[in-house]
Amino acid sequence: MSISETRNRLVIGNWKMHGNLATNAALLAGLTDGVASVAGCDLVICPPFPYLAQAQAVLLGKDGIALGAQDLSTKQQGAYTGDVSAAMLADIGCQWVLVGHSERRSKYAETSQLVADKAQAALSQGLTPVVCVGETLDEHEAGQANAVIAAQLQPVLSLGPQAVASMVIAYEPVWAIGTGLTATPEQAQAVHAGIRASLVQLGVPHVRILYGGSVNAANAASLFSMSDINGALVGGASLIAEEFLRIAAA
Ligand code: PGA
Repeated sequence: MSISETRNRLVIGNWKMHGNLATNAALLAGLTDGVASVAGCDLVICPPFPYLAQAQAVLLGKDGIALGAQDLSTKQQGAYTGDVSAAMLADIGCQWVLVGHSERRSKYAETSQLVADKAQAALSQGLTPVVCVGETLDEHEAGQANAVIAAQLQPVLSLGPQAVASMVIAYEPVWAIGTGLTATPEQAQAVHAGIRASLVQLGVPHVRILYGGSVNAANAASLFSMSDINGALVGGASLIAEEFLRIAAA
């Protein structure tokens, strides 16, 4: 059974644009040394593109941590300066890729249709896309979270049950990312339940739904106690090996 067909908890570290060869080496050593203590949880790390090869070399032949990327192109190959294709990611050993992170949506104007196209490109090479959705603070305060997320998911769900069954959804309220503010477990669960309902309607009830936004070792257990929270997408706390592993063990 592939990792995405199981219902193990899934914890993904999004390193964003942090690190260098030396700090990555220390972080990777901390992760590979400590991972044996984490059971029943699938772990993925998403380093920046230039360091995927470094991480792949360290993780090769070791169990417990898989490799993902933070973004990909919708194009297969060709004259697309600066882009990285799904085939390249698969070639370097990635099994996972984030698509539609809120920083991509807000800072690079990625539309929900583009995000769906990226998810499809990932699937075409056997990568598992982690589709990120979430509302801004203004949308949150206006009570629009569910409507915003439904609109963000719509083009993705239109890819059909077979495609969506091979994805992961990550709910990341924008107001909670990197701010130290976390949705309460109840707030997050309410949104996750709405996402779950749309997955059930599509006939893919077992797709994992991650929570993201200032997840740390202190708040992970209460988030994971919620029935529709199947893991976490972790930014800042994924840069500290011990903290990341404590989240996974929570
Ligand atoms: P954070 O980031 O954990 O630092 O809030 C989460 C994310 O952006 O994926």
